[in-house]
Amino acid sequence: TWRCADVAQHQISRIQEKTGENLSVFVLVSGGVDSAVAFALIAKALPAHRVAGLYVDTGMMRKDETAKVKASLRALGGNLKFVDASDLFLKNLEGVTNPEAKRRVIGDTFLQVQKEECGFLSDDTHWLLGQGTIYPDTIESGKGGADVIKTHHNRVPEIERLLRAGQVVEPLAQLYKDEVRAVGEKLGLPKHLVWRHPFPGPGLGVRLLCVEDERPPPSRVVVLRNHRGVVKVDIPPLRSVGCQGDSRTYKNFVVFKTGYPRDWVELDRMATDVINEHDAINRATISLTNNATPFVITPGAPHTVTRSRLDLLREADALVHQAFVDADLMTSIWQCPVAMAPLTFHDNAAAAASSSSSSKETIILRPVDSTEAMTASFSKLPWDLLDHLTNALFDKLGDRISDVLFDITNKPPGTIEWE
Ligand code: XMP
Repeated sequence: TWRCADVAQHQISRIQEKTGENLSVFVLVSGGVDSAVAFALIAKALPAHRVAGLYVDTGMMRKDETAKVKASLRALGGNLKFVDASDLFLKNLEGVTNPEAKRRVIGDTFLQVQKEECGFLSDDTHWLLGQGTIYPDTIESGKGGADVIKTHHNRVPEIERLLRAGQVVEPLAQLYKDEVRAVGEKLGLPKHLVWRHPFPGPGLGVRLLCVEDERPPPSRVVVLRNHRGVVKVDIPPLRSVGCQGDSRTYKNFVVFKTGYPRDWVELDRMATDVINEHDAINRATISLTNNATPFVITPGAPHTVTRSRLDLLREADALVHQAFVDADLMTSIWQCPVAMAPLTFHDNAAAAASSSSSSKETIILRPVDSTEAMTASFSKLPWDLLDHLTNALFDKLGDRISDVLFDITNKPPGTIEWE
């Protein structure tokens, strides 16, 4: 039977065997569970001067994430270097709105920073590379699906050479996520780190929807009649990603604005129907404010990745996250991406042109239940929690947000992330 204490001890011994008397290990730490647990194992196995870590702040991390990672990992020993590269990331993202282009720019900027910081690895044969690769990663990168960027990060030429030379240490390569968490707890990592939800490499950059079209068409509100009554449905002029077989495709999404039943089974059915019946739609959401007026792209607001938009998303994400912690839902929900779209209501738009409300955004909640992220179903959360969350978001950020949407799409046909 599998016992995490044995696994931890076994891996510590293997790291010690592989590094012998004088080899050192360098780890790229992302802030996620996997690389943190890998770093912790390596730091336990070796004396501090033989362990080095690098954490790159892309500016697309969550609120207080960098500080938390710093505090919990520095306590483990080893020297962990923090590089704030947020200015570089934002500069490279200027004017980039296409989702795949954003991913590429973020991935390339990572490579640029890593090259500067770990170029020494190729000349110094005393260093091995430590990575937090877990078992499902080895399956996913072989397939080359949504996680190309994850693979990408670990494939700088220097790193590839190390891989070929067998100079890589991957103490988690045989483990699934829940096993990695058990090992992390065993090693004494803080709960918030061990139970941290998976977070995409490109971070909040892929949760901040941008406007690609200079002149987006207006939203269309249509009326759906079914046996439950009359539902007002909006189709905003923005796209989000979904999956069809192995490929990712961008399509429109719908918002059930008013008249939808507060019944998850019924909503699941309605989402499935609307997606099956309309080839141009791959995602469905409900509006938690029940505002009936159509969406427009917020006029005058920046529709690209900016620090100010990221800051607003960080605040919304932190509020949602805290509500889940308070409701003790962190371990039962697989992940809850919070995304943001530059959408406001048609009625507000004219008034908005002359006031600060022109920066209004719509917040999208995407909690999902899953085991390894290959498939997922939207979380059927208690309605009073959603009401509470909506109120909390408006209390704190009301002058900057228009609506709160809740994603009711399963994967497939949707994806977990919106880009
Ligand atoms: P999707 O959106 O494809 O996400 O259903 C599946 C899982 O992968 C995460 N994800 C990423 N992780 N780099 C990563 O390291 C990426 O570019 C990336 N894109 C998505 C996502 O959060 C989910 O857990």
